[in-house]
Amino acid sequence: MSHPLHGKIQHKFLLGLACIFLLLGGVFLFSLNLHLREMLHIEAEAKAELVFSHVSSLQQYVRDTLRPSVRGHIPDEDFLLEAMSTSFVTRKVFVELNGQRDQYLYRRVSMSPRNPASQANDLERELITGFRNDGDLRTLRGYRVIDGVEHYILARPVYFEADCMYCHGDPADAPRVLLERYGAVRGFGHQAGDLAGMDFVGMPVDRSVQQVREAITLFGSSFYAAAAGVFLLIIIFFNRLVVANLRRLTGIFRQNFQSPGDRSILNRLDEGDEINSLMEAFGAFAAHLREARVKLEDYAANLEDKVRERTEDLSLEASGTPHRRGTVRGPAG
Ligand code: HEC
Repeated sequence: MSHPLHGKIQHKFLLGLACIFLLLGGVFLFSLNLHLREMLHIEAEAKAELVFSHVSSLQQYVRDTLRPSVRGHIPDEDFLLEAMSTSFVTRKVFVELNGQRDQYLYRRVSMSPRNPASQANDLERELITGFRNDGDLRTLRGYRVIDGVEHYILARPVYFEADCMYCHGDPADAPRVLLERYGAVRGFGHQAGDLAGMDFVGMPVDRSVQQVREAITLFGSSFYAAAAGVFLLIIIFFNRLVVANLRRLTGIFRQNFQSPGDRSILNRLDEGDEINSLMEAFGAFAAHLREARVKLEDYAANLEDKVRERTEDLSLEASGTPHRRGTVRGPAG
């Protein structure tokens, strides 16, 4: 019963089903990736904001609490950098004491800084230029690769105010300690309203990106494993319920049309997939039936004529007239 062309319907079904599963998996993984990336982004942004709020709190504490209190305890001409400069304290706490740089990156930088350690690098220059070109810009954010690691970055411009001029304006006004420590050139000569530089926070996202990749791989492989299982089940059922019965039907045709005259039907059974071949064979079978019926009807009609003629002949014979010969028609005209 088996024929190389059999199983074709199964192949078509298999292919269609596989395409659906693949497409479904693709859409599923694509949206999952989108969603996880969005979560990652929200998380990185929230963390960067958190670092910023810590920096602001610290700066505010130094400016409003520590500095005035220290000022009350030291002579007027003295200046205690470690307790009175917000930039110094924030740099110490958030840059130098930030032992685990893999957690976050903080920089307070300038194009021409007082402390050479706060010199803006290429990326920071680019951001500062951005702030310089657009005075209304409050933040710059995005993803950048820093030292080969992808970071979510958040930057805010720092503008000089009148208070700052004490240490950033004319060196003549500046505390002696400051001049001794940094010299009278760097960090001076600014005016209120000038762009001082920027505060910059970078959150490394490589680990989160890695986690997203792992999650995608895990979900992807479990989805396709489950899909393969369902696929197999469907194929088994399909085989049992559809393909097997189609083959039985084909078998019925083969068994019942074995004479050479039925070749046209049997030949059709070898065309296309099971359903196609059955349809073709059925078409041929129907044509076969119609032909047979026409023949039968014709034969029946002729039979009446034949019977009538024969009766006439017989009656003529009975009355002594020689009967006509050669006028009796055969059954199929
Ligand atoms: C009491 C003196 C003092 C005052 C007031 C002061 N600064 Fe500074 N600032 C410094 C010192 C000292 C440094 C260098 C700190 C270090 O070593 O990192 C500095 C550094 C900075 C830096 C980092 C880049 C660089 O030049 O090293 C920025 C930006 C900055 N200050 C902005 C400001 C702004 C804005 C204000 C006013 C809101 C201000 N500062 C007020 C003393 C001062």
